[in-house]
Amino acid sequence: DLAITGFPKGFLWGGAVAANQVEGGWNVGGKGLSTADMAIHKKNLKREEYEKHYKITDEQIADAIAATDASAYPKRRGIDFYHRFREDIALFAEMNFKVLRVSIAWTRIFPTGVEEQPNEEGLRFYDELFDALRSNGIEPLVTLSHYEMPIYLVNNFAGWNGRKTVDCFEKFAVTVLERYKDKVKYWLTFNEIDSIIRHPFTTGGIVPDRFSKDEIETVIYQALHHQFVASALAVKHCRRLCPEAKIGCMLTRLLTYPESCAPEDILLAYRENQLNYFFSDVQIRGRYPRHMTRRFAEKGIHIDMLPGDEEILQQHTVDFLSFSYYMSLVTSVNADKMDKVGGNIAGGVKNPYLKTTEWDWQIDPVGLRIALNDMYDRYQIPLFVVENGMGAVDQIDDDHQVNDDYRIAFFQSHLKEMKEAVKDGVELMGYTSWAPIDLISASTSEMNKRYGFIYVDQDNDGNGTLVRYRKKSFYWYQDVIATNGETL
Ligand code: BG6
Repeated sequence: DLAITGFPKGFLWGGAVAANQVEGGWNVGGKGLSTADMAIHKKNLKREEYEKHYKITDEQIADAIAATDASAYPKRRGIDFYHRFREDIALFAEMNFKVLRVSIAWTRIFPTGVEEQPNEEGLRFYDELFDALRSNGIEPLVTLSHYEMPIYLVNNFAGWNGRKTVDCFEKFAVTVLERYKDKVKYWLTFNEIDSIIRHPFTTGGIVPDRFSKDEIETVIYQALHHQFVASALAVKHCRRLCPEAKIGCMLTRLLTYPESCAPEDILLAYRENQLNYFFSDVQIRGRYPRHMTRRFAEKGIHIDMLPGDEEILQQHTVDFLSFSYYMSLVTSVNADKMDKVGGNIAGGVKNPYLKTTEWDWQIDPVGLRIALNDMYDRYQIPLFVVENGMGAVDQIDDDHQVNDDYRIAFFQSHLKEMKEAVKDGVELMGYTSWAPIDLISASTSEMNKRYGFIYVDQDNDGNGTLVRYRKKSFYWYQDVIATNGETL
């Protein structure tokens, strides 16, 4: 009987975080300032303002560089994981984690990005982190670039728009691959590499006001090209330095449905999905898909490639595709006349069959099964769900209990569909929830948008004891992992 009945033995269950959203310690251990250290929490932010929130001006950057504390900049304080990681890892181990996805803050290793020698204190921090994980039986899954880069590179080389940034990143990648080759078996290059088109500063260190409206798209795609090359170079060095390791790319999977069965709607949705896959196509197939030629021509976008770039992309493709999945989207040629949902990552036409989170993200577990099948059909390489979860406002009672049944319902429904996809034949390496512990939101720098199985006592303004409490979902997820998903 060849039927697949559930998750394979050794399935990598766990959780995912990013350095800039948890570590804090923004100015200790020799760390330099990064783009994430510039992000401000704006109170009472309206949904329509999310997009503006991503934008940053040179004046705001100058103010942030001059600021000597963390008060207005929540990502500078995170949840103090820098000092409390041992305690947090003990809680992850209690939940039976097999893997924890973390990222390395580039500015801990190269504070400005251009130093010749790395900062030993920064390297030591990640040695200790990876050692602590491994001694708890947890494999580190390490993202090289998760929404941060040295601000020095933004101000001196135009962020990822500058070719020099590729060289600085290559030096950073080689340094950490070499240093941690015996401790890390799973690597990712760029988190949500596609997000540069939605928030160019967070992802690419691009300050929009420095460019005219006409040139901004070219600037973004040029920066993306540099990231593609940098990603391929990281793959190349990983093969050389850590031949036993696996290295993947990372995509925001934005599954788009047509609003109707009108062929025009189907085509529009098809094109949206094709555009979403452009980013993984390059890193998996090793070349730009031909449909992008037309898109670039129609938008007047020209990308400068150096001789040898195409060969680099072609020769160093990834081992697996990892992705985040939070929601699905709907599109229509008549979108203008239709009700919308406005999640800050991506919005679109409202899907009447789906409920939304408090942040207006459409909850679609079946979409995860569709996305998994579709990606596997397309690429035939192993997949890894490295982010999935829901942000919610949690209530903690006097006994420090958080009865987050809504979170359990979210995960239960998604994991069930993921199991169906595995039974459909999809090759899946693992699943890391976003995020196993409350942290600072990437998009709005809120603390009250909570994702974790572990509650962290801190509010939007940074008040609180930072004490960790197990939520009801903590015990639920612990059981899921203990039974390898059999009870789902
Ligand atoms: C993904 C990012 O886009 O979504 C994470 O990789 C982020 O860094 C997550 O935290 C959820 O988004 P947000 O804005 O709710 O934190």
